[in-house]
Amino acid sequence: MMKTSEKIYKNFIGPNGENIDQLKKLLESVLDNHRQWRKSYYKKDRRLYDQQNTSNKLLEKELNNFLKRSNQNIPYFHPRYSAQMLKDPSIPTILGCITFMLSNPNNHAYEGGPVTTEMEMEVTDLMLKMCGYKSGWGHLTSGGSLANMEALWAARDFYGNGTVYFSEVSHYSWKRICKILQIKNFKEIIADENFRMDLNHLEHQLKKNKAMCVIANLGSTGTGSVDDIKSIIALREKYGFHLHIDAAYGGFVRSVLLDDDYKLLPFNEEIILKRFVYDQLKAIKDSDSVTVDPHKHGLISYGAGAVLFKNKRLREIILNTAPYTYHIQDKPNIGMFSLEGSRPGAMAAACYLTYKVLPPNQSGTGEVIKLALSASKKFYELIENSNSFRNLNEPDLDINCFYRIHDSSEVSNHNKQMIKVYEHFSIENDNPEFILSKFVMPSNLTKRVLPELKNKKKENFISLRSVFMKHWGALENFYYVRKLVEALENFQIS
Ligand SMILES: Cc1ncc(COP(=O)(O)O)c(C=O)c1O
Repeated sequence: MMKTSEKIYKNFIGPNGENIDQLKKLLESVLDNHRQWRKSYYKKDRRLYDQQNTSNKLLEKELNNFLKRSNQNIPYFHPRYSAQMLKDPSIPTILGCITFMLSNPNNHAYEGGPVTTEMEMEVTDLMLKMCGYKSGWGHLTSGGSLANMEALWAARDFYGNGTVYFSEVSHYSWKRICKILQIKNFKEIIADENFRMDLNHLEHQLKKNKAMCVIANLGSTGTGSVDDIKSIIALREKYGFHLHIDAAYGGFVRSVLLDDDYKLLPFNEEIILKRFVYDQLKAIKDSDSVTVDPHKHGLISYGAGAVLFKNKRLREIILNTAPYTYHIQDKPNIGMFSLEGSRPGAMAAACYLTYKVLPPNQSGTGEVIKLALSASKKFYELIENSNSFRNLNEPDLDINCFYRIHDSSEVSNHNKQMIKVYEHFSIENDNPEFILSKFVMPSNLTKRVLPELKNKKKENFISLRSVFMKHWGALENFYYVRKLVEALENFQIS
């Protein structure tokens, strides 16, 4: 079990709000600084009103109601919640974000947010380094879907016609993106029993239809599977195409492999990952563009994806100007080269402060992510030894899919049972012991992954899914991981 440093505890609110006092103190300094900053401008101007409004009865009442309503939310922060990719933002994220929400800069143009634009460029440089790109261009986006869309938009306009290939287990947004970009030539490549793109199928298709872009997954949404990027790069040498990696989920896992100077560490046991995954993470550096989401494994709250291009020329093809903005020309105007217009400078600030404290290498995000990976690994091992549950596959990252063993080999019988398990361990239950999600595998894929099953009605196969992205699961000798397995094993189906 790896040693956990103090900073992992200090930089998060904690499942029971352990660090709220620290956050209160730091927030107070944010607000004090903000008042001073406001007061420092145009000191000789007439003041519009002198009174400090300390009471606002309507707001107090509405806030009270609002806070009650806020408590009806799902406890995403708790280690008992591992249903979806939701994770406690770090304390620096909250402080970075709030500091700039108070003045509300807009990073679409330099003049809208000079400080936060500079921060965004510094954060982008860090992410380029994290991905192993020696140069390039990139910026933050509102999320992974928008980052993916911008990458494909730029690729389409840069290279012209050709087919777009992506895996059948890719994120749902890819088909939507193709539709919006009016790319009719797209083809889904089948996945193998490890949910990785079947490269025989890919090559077969590449021979038939000239490719414009191949999109590889580094952390598919359902199972966290990692495609064989090294071999796809070898296919690129042969067939020529733009290789985009959708590493919205897994991109930050590369920080596990990096020393404090962002140099690659040799493969070793401490890294927790399989050798195969290490090799694919290493190979990101040879891709043409990549999506990485700070708001997934990058410890940032929602509203922060990122797109990175190795070749800066791809940004020129999507250049956009306007007569009423982008007036400062010797500074970056991110909006000139992005799909989105207005974007919050506050998110760039959140990333900036977070990566000052927890940089995207082994000493920062890497240390947090290793805990998530080891929680997933422990869970996998415990399920391997279980008499009542079985792993669907051995995870590449930290998303585990598993199912309850059934006497029958018929998928419909199995599904009936799994629906009951899901109803107990999910938000369907008013008082769940643990909150998990489902991975519903299409029947064709089920045939490949579980060939021993019979499936008369061609049903999709239901498994349970746990996203172990929170590091709390690994603490205290995997207390919560063990509790989850205990609860699963003790569950009686009525
Ligand atoms: C692999 C992958 N790509 C893209 C996305 C889309 O990201 P977002 O929801 O931030 O738009 C997700 C979201 O889960 C994802 O897992």
